[in-house]
Order: sequence, then structure tokens, then C-alpha cells
Amino acid sequence: MNDAAQTADSLAPLLEVQSIGKSFLKPDGDALLVLDGVNLKLKRGEIVGLLGRSGSGKSTLLRLIAGLDTPSHGAVRYLGAPVEGPAPGISMVFQGFALFPWLTVLGNVQLGLEAMRLAPAEIRKRSLQAIDLIGLDGYESAYPRELSGGMRQRVGFARALVVHPNILLMDEPFSALDVLTAETLRNDFLDLWGRGELPIGAVLLVTHNIEEAVQMCDRLLIFSTHPGRVVSEIPIDLPQPREPLDPLVRALVDRVYVEMTARPRQGRDGARAERPTLVSIGTALEHVSTNLLAGLIEAVSEPPYEGRADLPAIAQALHMEADDLFPVAETLQLLHFAEVGGGDIRLTEAGLTFARSETDERKSLFARQLLAYVPLAAHVRRVLDERSSHRAPKSRFLDELEDHMAEEAAEQTLRAVISWGRYAEVFAYDDQRQVFTLENPQ
Ligand SMILES: Nc1ncnc2c1ncn2[C@@H]1O[C@H](COP(=O)(O)OP(=O)(O)O)[C@@H](O)[C@H]1O
Ligand SMILES: [Mg+2]
Repeated sequence: MNDAAQTADSLAPLLEVQSIGKSFLKPDGDALLVLDGVNLKLKRGEIVGLLGRSGSGKSTLLRLIAGLDTPSHGAVRYLGAPVEGPAPGISMVFQGFALFPWLTVLGNVQLGLEAMRLAPAEIRKRSLQAIDLIGLDGYESAYPRELSGGMRQRVGFARALVVHPNILLMDEPFSALDVLTAETLRNDFLDLWGRGELPIGAVLLVTHNIEEAVQMCDRLLIFSTHPGRVVSEIPIDLPQPREPLDPLVRALVDRVYVEMTARPRQGRDGARAERPTLVSIGTALEHVSTNLLAGLIEAVSEPPYEGRADLPAIAQALHMEADDLFPVAETLQLLHFAEVGGGDIRLTEAGLTFARSETDERKSLFARQLLAYVPLAAHVRRVLDERSSHRAPKSRFLDELEDHMAEEAAEQTLRAVISWGRYAEVFAYDDQRQVFTLENPQ
């Protein structure tokens, strides 16, 4: 880079996201606020992580930055100019590999350069360089179906790198890979990055994997859910390479867990609630199986935890990722089987009793908590009790829920209540006819 470019570069940040808001229209015509007041800056040479739960708007934010969608409020500025469409110099690696099956590795990588109007020889040269760099040497003429998941994602990386992007956006690039493959690819990436061999200015990495974020990033931004906001920023000033078991790395992982569990969930109106938002019939629920719920209660009740566990420790013991563990822990909290906060989960009296009980007693305890703390379950039961037929179609409740949430969330919420109600024998559900009944219970 020449001096003039360098000066210009130090004046304008590579990327600036200014008070971005994004809403989508729900089926009932209301707006669903997905991102609210999001600010971020990306400087040359840094890897910034965006960490948040599923549904917190991370992918939406990347799409806005990539110019694939437009914000409802605020602006994205790249090198000082507003982004108003796909910007050359910003490229993206996706979770799914998004390769064209009928093109070879070389063909897929060359696609990345198509918009740049380079001479064919130059396109070929740069593509082969990218392929070589990312460890695919010798696979140029292979087709995606002949490659393992890890190799396919290497193609995804090569296609993004080949344009020599100023900004590389990565949307959960390792999460479709098995653990070992993900680790290898992460380490290879960090190795190349550390040696300055990647033709990239800066990286924005979206992940729900806390360990991965702490291993890879210089700085983490933590997102809240409903709507997505940046609720905290954590600098990570540790040298590379970072060993997962290094106490300093563990301490940071713990701190991120605390940040991600200390925050109360926010109300639908976007107001920051002081306590967990009051649960109503219209509260969206995550579909967590009763097996997982019982499994977590058991794990926390047993030695060495005895009713209280550090979430990162229990996630590791259960071979679960944070993103999978949080909904389970939160559902236990919703049912008052546990309290979650400060990076810990503590079983309540009901949780401890559940752990000690046999199947039938567990079911009736679960039924009691379900009816007491999940208003939608109590509502379904009341409707069934009141009707002489003791039957009600699913659509009746679906319509009701769709006044409060998107169709997809309403479906998921009903699925959750159906599986919990069945387990607790509070009501039955006929999948074929799509009706709730009281056939089995009582
Ligand atoms: N095109 C769209 N239309 C309607 N809703 C959308 C659209 N894209 C995303 N959403 C909703 O926005 C929320 C955030 O989605 P997303 O950005 O994919 O979250 P994340 O990547 O953090 O899991 C979700 O509730 C999702 O259903
Ligand atoms: Mg996503």
C-alpha cells in the first residue's frame, strides 16, 4: 500500500456500522424488530467476533454489511462510503458451503473473481494461489461431491479469499463441521493469519461457540436477543496461539458465559427488563425435549455439582455447546426447576426433588410446574376442560399465537408445549388430525 492510501485508510475505518436497525414484517403485518441500534467499527488487522444466541440477528447483520439487504435505520459505511449493494472488497464465508456441484474446485473458486473483470490468465493464477494457500493443492479438478465437509469448506474459504478482500465476513464457518475438522481448519486459518499470509484486511466472525470466539478473536461483541443489540464488548489481549486449557483462556471463556447468562431476556417491546420478562400466553418458547431437560437436571444434581454447576463446566461434561445448553438451562428456569445467572445453574427445591424421583412422580411434578409457570400450557388445558368434546384443533392456538409472534416461532412454541404436555400427561395431541385432546390424561 502506498503512503497516500495508508493515510486515507487510517482516517476512515475499514467498516463502520452506524446505529443500524432492521425490522421484518410478520405475517400479521406487525414489524419484527431484529436489530436495534447496533454500532461497530472494524479496523485493519483485527478479528472481531459477534457472539449471540440463535435468532439474535447475527446473520442479518452480516447480510446488511455485505450489501445483500438494506437496513431499516442507520447506515453501513465501508471505507467511508455508504454500502448500497454488494461491495467489492467484502466477501463472505457461509456455514453451508454453498458450492456449485457441477463446477470443479477451481471453477468454484474462480467464480469469486468473475465480477472483477480480470484477464482469464490472471483469474486462473489467483485462483490457484488461493487453492494452494488454503491447503487444497492437488484438488483443483475435483468436484464438491468428491470432497469431505472440511475440504468443501476450504473451497468456501478459497472462494472468499481469492478476491483479496478488505473485509472477510464469516457466518459460523466451522459449525457444520465435526469437532476435529473444525479445529484443524480454525488452526490452519489462524496460522496463516498470524504469518500475514492471508490477503485479508480484517475479519468479522459470527459464531455461537464461545471457545471458538475466545480462541480466534481480538475483541468480542456480545449480542442480546429480541432485538439484537450489542450488550457488551470484551477485549481479548492474549497472544496467539491460545491453548484451550490455558487458565487465562478458561477465565475469559467463563467471563463470556457470565455476560451471556447475566442479562435478562428482553421484552418484546424492546424494553430492557429488570427481571426475566414476565411469561405470558404469547411468550415464544424454545422446543427443548424433556429428555434434555431431565438430563441436565440429573447432571447438575449429581457429584461433583450437587445442585449447582458452572455452565462452561457442565457444557463440557455433557459435550454440549453453549448454544445448545442455554435453551435447556433457560427452559429449566422457566419451569422453576433451576435458576440461571452469573454463569451458573442452580437447581431449585423442585429441581432437586425431580432428580430424586421415579418416573411417575417426575411426571406429576413436571405437570405441576408446567401448569403453574407456562401460561400457554395452562391455557390449552383450560380450553380442553371447558369444551364438552375435550378437543381443540391446533389451528385455534396457532392463530392466537400468531398475534404475538412470527409463524415459525408460533409453530415452535406449540411444538414445545405439545411435547411437554404429552410427557406430563396434561393433555394429548393427535399428530394426524392436529388436535389436542384429553384422551390419555385422567
Ligand atoms: N428475511 C426474513 N424475513 C423475516 N424474518 C427474518 C428474515 N431473516 C431473518 N429473520 C428473523 O430475524 C431473526 C434473526 O435471524 P438471524 O439473523 O438469522 O439470527 P442469527 O443468525 O443470530 O441466528 C429471526 O427471528 C429470524 O426468524
Ligand atoms: Mg445465523
